[in-house]
Amino acid sequence: MSEHSVRVRVPATSANLGPGFDALGIACTLYNEMTLTLMHEKGLHISARGEGALYIPSDSRNIVWKSIQYILERAGRADEFQGAKIRMSNRIPLSRGLGSSATAIVAGLTAANALLDCPFDRHDILQLATDIEGHPDNVAPAIYGGFTVNTVTRGHVECFSFLPRIFLRFVVMVPDFYLSTKSARQVLPAKVPRSDAVFNISHAAMMVAALARGSEKHLENAFEDALHQTYRAPLIPGMFDVFAAAKKAGAYGAALSGAGPCLIAFVPEHRKCTEDVAAAMQEAFRAHDVEARPLHLRLDTKGARVLRRREAITK
Ligand code: HSE
Repeated sequence: MSEHSVRVRVPATSANLGPGFDALGIACTLYNEMTLTLMHEKGLHISARGEGALYIPSDSRNIVWKSIQYILERAGRADEFQGAKIRMSNRIPLSRGLGSSATAIVAGLTAANALLDCPFDRHDILQLATDIEGHPDNVAPAIYGGFTVNTVTRGHVECFSFLPRIFLRFVVMVPDFYLSTKSARQVLPAKVPRSDAVFNISHAAMMVAALARGSEKHLENAFEDALHQTYRAPLIPGMFDVFAAAKKAGAYGAALSGAGPCLIAFVPEHRKCTEDVAAAMQEAFRAHDVEARPLHLRLDTKGARVLRRREAITK
């Protein structure tokens, strides 16, 4: 009996970026790694270390395994590989709005695809990942890296990934509590006023144009949102005060990272004020009795990568 194994690395992501709800995302320089061994025989051996390891299911509910099964079925190879060994090494905080579940999906799909000799290209992987996750704004940057603009048109997903002409640093504040995406989506209204929709379309478009052309002055208000953050604010004590503190300390703006509870500030590299921004955000959170720790991140430009591959290892 032979085994095939591969190691992959997938970046954390921050979705929405304020106005780009379910549509914009960035990949960040914080990574989870995973080694996958596909087995012909039945059996599931899952181990995890690092962030949130205690909360990661080690049975068939595991999202990495579900994603592997999904791609095996799509490739018509599910009968051939019925078991797996999955070793996860996690640095991305769980259920905090940094795309940890998207990372797990992308890791499973990317690793299994590599072991199947790549029947699917990156766009196929994006489609499969979006089918599983339900929206593309985390999975797309996790796959492509960079700043991504994502659309879903009658089920068909498209991703445009680019590197902004403004060098940004990201200060992410990680509060000491979890928030599930499900509960953070439940508080959103099904319908929104047209003026709010217009506000977001215009601000999201302005952000993309300003970053693509390198126009700093057009980023001044570009991270503002009217579609989701106000409704989610009661779930994250002090959120708007933390945004204001980040801006006052030198950030272009700040936003809820994905569905939260992490908050992300967008800081121009040349202002060299990330420490000040982090301190100001931390203090603003503290005023609302929330302890939070900062992560200092940059844009990941590569997305999901296969690090190492070993084939046909005789058992
Ligand atoms: N766009 C998603 C949301 C990101 O804000 O709910 C979380 O997965």
